[in-house]
Parts: sequence; C-alpha cells; structure tokens
Amino acid sequence: MSTEEDIETYLDKEYIKKHPGSKLLYERAKGVFARGVTHDARFFRPMPIYCVEARGSRKWDVDGNEYIDYWMGHGALILGHAHPAVTEAAVNQARRGTHLGASHELEIEWAEKVTRLLPCASDGLVEFTSSGTEATLLALRLSRAYTGRQRVIKFLSHFHGWLDYTIIDHNPDLSPPLDSSYPPGIPDGTLRSVTALPPNDIEAVERTIEEGDVACVILEPGGASMGYLPTYKPFLEWLRRITRENGVVLIFDEVVTGFRDSPGGAQEHYDVTPDLSTLGKILGGGYPGGAVAGRREIMEMLEFRDEEGWEGMRVRHPGTFNANPLSAAAGNACLSLIMDGYVHPEINVAGRTLRSAFNDAFEDSGIQGLAWGTTDSIVYVGFGFSPEDLEVSDIHGYIDFQKKKAMNNEAIAHLDKAMINRGVHPMGSRFILSRVHTEEDIQKTAIAFYESLKELRGEGLLKEFI
Ligand SMILES: Cc1ncc(COP(=O)(O)O)c(C=O)c1O
Repeated sequence: MSTEEDIETYLDKEYIKKHPGSKLLYERAKGVFARGVTHDARFFRPMPIYCVEARGSRKWDVDGNEYIDYWMGHGALILGHAHPAVTEAAVNQARRGTHLGASHELEIEWAEKVTRLLPCASDGLVEFTSSGTEATLLALRLSRAYTGRQRVIKFLSHFHGWLDYTIIDHNPDLSPPLDSSYPPGIPDGTLRSVTALPPNDIEAVERTIEEGDVACVILEPGGASMGYLPTYKPFLEWLRRITRENGVVLIFDEVVTGFRDSPGGAQEHYDVTPDLSTLGKILGGGYPGGAVAGRREIMEMLEFRDEEGWEGMRVRHPGTFNANPLSAAAGNACLSLIMDGYVHPEINVAGRTLRSAFNDAFEDSGIQGLAWGTTDSIVYVGFGFSPEDLEVSDIHGYIDFQKKKAMNNEAIAHLDKAMINRGVHPMGSRFILSRVHTEEDIQKTAIAFYESLKELRGEGLLKEFI
C-alpha cells in the first residue's frame, strides 16, 4: 500500500480519514527529508502520525486523536512522558543554562549513580557520550586500544546504532551464505574488521576467536533488536568464560536493557558481568545521552598521563554535548527514582499482564501468533511464531527465524494501523511499557488488540495465519 489510489481496505480508509493533519505534514516533510521522516523506524505507509504532545502513558496527534503510547521514546521513557520529577529537574536546569562550557557537579552525580547501579561499573569508571551509537563507537575503540587487536565479533540482527562498524551484518563465510551485498557508504576495511555470527552460536564464536586478533565481542544481552530474538543465559555465561580466557573484551550493549531489565540492567538480571557496557535511552531520562561504563583498566585508556609516548596510545574522546547539564539533570532524576525500587515490580507486572492478554487474544481469535518478551516490560507479537522458533543457536535456525519474521512484516503493518485507528500506538511489533501504564491502559490495549485481530481476519489480511 503505497499511494492513496491503492486504498482498498476499510483499515486504510479509516486511517486516512482519521489523520488529515498528519497527511498534510507528511507531504510537507517530503520536501525537506529524503524519506519524509527523521528515523528509519518512524517510516510508515501511507504516512506516519504527527504528534504534538505527550503525558504519562498517552500522546496526542495533530488531528486530536489520543493514543496509549507503546513507543515510549524508543524505550527511553521508563517513567512515562513528561514525568513531573524529571521535567522539573530539566526545566530548572534549563533556566540555569543548558551548556556551561565547564565541568559541573551533576555529571559526577550522574556517573556515581551509574557505578552504583551497574555491576560492571561498581569498581569501574564512566564516560558520557551523546547517544547510544556514540557509546558503541567508543566501546569498540577502547577495546581495540586496550587489547591492541582489530577484529570485532557481533551477532546477526543485534543492533548497536547506526555507526559503520555494526550497522550491517558482515560475514562472507557463513554457510548458507547471507545476502552479501555491501551497503553503500561503508569502507571495505571497516566491514572486514567486524564478523557477524549467528546468535547463541558457541562454536562459531570459538572458531572466530581461535582465528585470532579479536578485540571484543559485543551483543545485546537480552537479544537481537531489543530482545526480539532472545539471547540465552547459558550463552552469556559461556561467552563470559571464553572471552576472559582469551583476553577478549566482553561488551554488553545495555542501551535498551540498562535500567530496564532490572535496576542494574541485563547484567544484574542474568547475573553475568561484562567488561564494558554501553548505555543510552533511560540513562538520560528521556533526554539525549549515552555512556560507556566498566572496568577501570580499560576505561583508563582515556586518561591523560605525563608518560613519554602515552599520548600516541591514548583514546581520544571529545563531544560538545557529552554529559550536558540538561541531560545530566534529567538522568539523575530518572535514575534516582529507579534506585527507589518501585519502578520495576510495577512495570514488570503490567508487561506480563499485557503479554498474556495478547496470547489469549491470539487463541480466542483463532490466529496463529505469539506474544513474548525477554524482559517483562517490552512485549513482542509475531504472527505464525511458536516458542520453538525463538530458540536460535546456529545459522540454520537464524535463517528460519528470519523467514518467519519476513512473513510477518506485512501483517504487523496492518496490525499497527488497526491499533492506531483504535488509539494505541505500537512500535512495529513491540509494545514498550512505562511505569505509568495503568491497568486501564493494559485492558484497553488488550481489547484493541483482540478487535484488531478480528478486523484483520475479517478483511482477509491474515489468511496465512489461520
Ligand atoms: C541496543 C541498541 N544499541 C544502540 C542503539 C543506538 O542508540 P541511539 O539511537 O541513541 O544512537 C540502540 C537504539 O535503538 C539500541 O536499541
């Protein structure tokens, strides 16, 4: 469905009818943005919704439609939109200056909270960046500088931001081969320095480390793409052992899982402590920010030293907005509330309730589908999936999983549209919760989900999944 002329379903007609203001803005946006949107994930056909305001679990679009929001700032807003304590901290700081061109106490407080919450940083150090992407970039550079090695191991579909090294999955040796087309704009040397392996594949990691020159292994500890394709605890434990034995730096990308899977992130949840963690999203309480945190001797590659020759070995890291006071104030307020211990029990109950309501809805409507989550507060839905499909540990399992996922894409787009028409805004196949989603929100979402399935089934849009 790409143009208005293609409209056939009630679903699409309703979507267009409810969003005339968004349509006008999208037409205007296409005059200034190549893809009409400002983040790949916000692209939506026939046009995305344009929002004007958000509070708590809700947001409103330019046409006056209200939504229960499950984007939650791409996972940054664990306390919900415009949380009073976070907003007050940020507004107070904005009045006192958003950039002091100097060091400030808030950045120390912010880093101290990270070291108190995150096991890998408890005796370690912190370095702030402006985004999760920058945090990945810095973690890879630190690992290479510390080990004196070049190669990076990542895992297929694990997302670490849009930097050259990890934005694509490069591995020409995989059998059966993956699509080996090289995306434009990324130097060959950069691609060749990174090897993407099947998730949870112990043998593949072992082989690659044996080949030598591996500086680090980076992964989303909860699973690929915010936990969509799970990582398993025994694999994390095994990774910890093999990286330690081989002097390879283990990096957990906790941009999503940090402060979400538990106050101490996935590493606390799975009880596996990496050498370094990257952070973002919740770290800044909904304001831009990122960080690398972890083992002192690796982080010390950033240190200024008077030693002869050190400057040539030191990792450099400028960045105008590193630890800016606005994000530091908001981040401190958010992490303080997480430290109080009330956020996680409540958000996890809400997530589990939503997940089981979705599974009931699949069953009641006779549609083959599954709702799952590697952390309770992010719920995934997939058509045609069964729990066994999530157990991927080699390239064959991965390819089967990808095929299932590809079969889903169209149905998920329909589902999103049907949900949006009912006042619920999912992030593709994800529903990201916040602490302020209420029981009523969850119930309304469950009803909207069931009704959407019925509508899609009635319109013949889910034929492959009946
Ligand atoms: C696991 C993970 N790492 C890194 C990033 C990149 O963070 P940012 O968008 O702040 O650059 C993301 C963003 O969604 C992410 O999900």
